[in-house]
Amino acid sequence: MSLSDTRARKKQKKEKDAGAKPLDGSRSGSVKEKRKGDVTSDDSSIFQSFNTIILWGPLLLAVLAFAYMNPTVITELLDSWIGFSEHWDEPPTTAPENVTHLIADIPKRDAIVAAFKHAWHAYERDAMGDDEYHPLSRAGSNLTKAGGIGYTVVDSLDSMQIMGLHDEYTRAREWVETKLDFERDDTFSTFETTIRVLGGLLSSYHLSSHDPLYLSKAVELADRMLPAFDTLSGLPYPLINLAQRKGQHTTDFPGLVSIAEVATLQLEFRYLSEVTGDERYWGVVERVMQVVKNARLPHGMASVFLNVDEGQYVTSIISLGSRGDSFYEYLLKQYIQTNSTEDVYRDMYDDAMQAVQNYLIQPSKTARMIYTSELVPEQIGDGEITWRLIPKQDHLVCFLGGSLMLGATRTGSSSQKVSVPPSPGELTAAGQRDWKTGVELIKTCLSTHDTATGLAPEIVYFRIPSDGMDGFPGAPSDWYIKGAQKGVHPPYDARYMLRPETVESLFIAWRLTGDPEWRERGWKIFEAIKKWCKVEGGGYATVVNVDDGEWGKEDRMETFFLSETLKYLYLLFADEDVLPLDQYVFNTEAHPLPIFTPSIRTGVV
Ligand SMILES: *[C@@H]1O[C@H](CO)[C@@H](O)[C@H](O)[C@H]1NC(C)=O
Ligand SMILES: *[C@@H]1O[C@H](CO)[C@@H](O)[C@H](O)[C@H]1NC(C)=O
Ligand SMILES: *[C@@H]1O[C@H](CO)[C@@H](O)[C@H](O)[C@H]1NC(C)=O
Repeated sequence: MSLSDTRARKKQKKEKDAGAKPLDGSRSGSVKEKRKGDVTSDDSSIFQSFNTIILWGPLLLAVLAFAYMNPTVITELLDSWIGFSEHWDEPPTTAPENVTHLIADIPKRDAIVAAFKHAWHAYERDAMGDDEYHPLSRAGSNLTKAGGIGYTVVDSLDSMQIMGLHDEYTRAREWVETKLDFERDDTFSTFETTIRVLGGLLSSYHLSSHDPLYLSKAVELADRMLPAFDTLSGLPYPLINLAQRKGQHTTDFPGLVSIAEVATLQLEFRYLSEVTGDERYWGVVERVMQVVKNARLPHGMASVFLNVDEGQYVTSIISLGSRGDSFYEYLLKQYIQTNSTEDVYRDMYDDAMQAVQNYLIQPSKTARMIYTSELVPEQIGDGEITWRLIPKQDHLVCFLGGSLMLGATRTGSSSQKVSVPPSPGELTAAGQRDWKTGVELIKTCLSTHDTATGLAPEIVYFRIPSDGMDGFPGAPSDWYIKGAQKGVHPPYDARYMLRPETVESLFIAWRLTGDPEWRERGWKIFEAIKKWCKVEGGGYATVVNVDDGEWGKEDRMETFFLSETLKYLYLLFADEDVLPLDQYVFNTEAHPLPIFTPSIRTGVV
């Protein structure tokens, strides 16, 4: 159960033997951060300022910056963690009764629709068709100079379909029909383009009862992207030139690609094969899963970087946040999407969750909140590596609570269908473990909303015994925003950029338990968004400092606010017949895809 030094070292040796290149994976520019286009971030996190892959220099800096941490930190954390489960005797669910049907809360649901309109109408007025929107300057921008690829429009279409916004939807569809063009001679993220644009098109295709417009656009886009998979290993290039149909490496990390980028394409490409009968799409993403499976490290966790040519992990940070997150999400969702017929994904998911439970789940210092930490490789002497636990949790990780609960009812249940909420007897031991952890993680994410605005910061650090903060007046008891100081310009970590992950987990928790508490907490978050992020003239914007609204807003409304945050809030207050979880699986950008029994069998065994 413990990450012993010897084991970690052995692993490192093995990676070296396999020819892997050691690397500091701790720079920012996360997959999800990058997709915000926030490349000029003034991120305060010490990990987020390194732009090079110089091998050990950054690591050394990281070590220095963490010098305030006692070197025994890992032991201390593990000691307290191992004893933790013994204190844990709460029942796994809080809902008092067996819920039969969850009905809509119409006034609240309609308030979410009104917010969507406030956001969408501003975009439509000022920037229709542009990839991104800036609500303060009332302007749009594109990801590249080559022109837009429908990033915001396509990402938002299914929200309008689900919310019944007929007029808005009709105009957006018209734009797709007449203006959407993928003949753009520049590079786009393989991952982002898949989850937002391909995922959005496929979801709209399904929800429109098979409007051929969306399928033809999806096929065209996927065909332009297929060459990204032409690599020695079959792992895709992180970038694709849509006009030249050519994959490309990034300049920041040449030769490397992150696990989330390669393992978060499968739902979309598989569904495309299912509806077209063309197995090529299925084949390329299946191949990726094969490579990922074969690359498994002895401890079962995924380092965030892989070598594209070799198809092996390189020594780099282990994180459930940026660059790691949706890998874990899609392991479960591939199993769900294929109607629980592909045991290989269930096994890979169960294996990954066991490792996450073993190494990354921690209890906080005072309140004993459950949080997730990261593992950062450090060199000690001649090529030897130890792993340091960093008590840092990205807001991105807040998807995990809901995902663990969903997983508990799918891979961790003894019967096909469990009650709402599940009774402990319906779950296996691993299912009960994941359910409890999931509930606790969501509660922790909710506690990060205990800020002046009620909004959660982008990144929090949890207190650990050796962090040197004890005895300082006003030292936080459990978590804090690193580098935040009164009167000083807020660090990057202090922002709320309209992210969906907490409300995503609330939606899943609500559907699986029927406990009204989840709805109440979601409503509070929505009210905070309305109060602090709403731009009166139209749109919503990133809040710069969740602990002090006076710092104002940043000129940015992320597309995932329309596709994810508002959709999950809407679904939280909608009737459960809207996209029931036993018939749909949501891609990582909240685009729902139907569960199906595949006619194509996986090649991964
Ligand atoms: C974005 O690209 C589209 C398509 O080429 C173009 O019409 C539009 O003007 C561009 N927007 C901006 C802000 O450059
Ligand atoms: C909950 O209700 C469902 C449907 O009425 C039933 O099948 C199931 O056995 C119940 N579960 C429990 C734990 O009472
Ligand atoms: C999923 O599998 C079950 C049998 O286990 C079957 O009854 C059901 O129709 C399948 N669902 C879909 C959408 O294929």
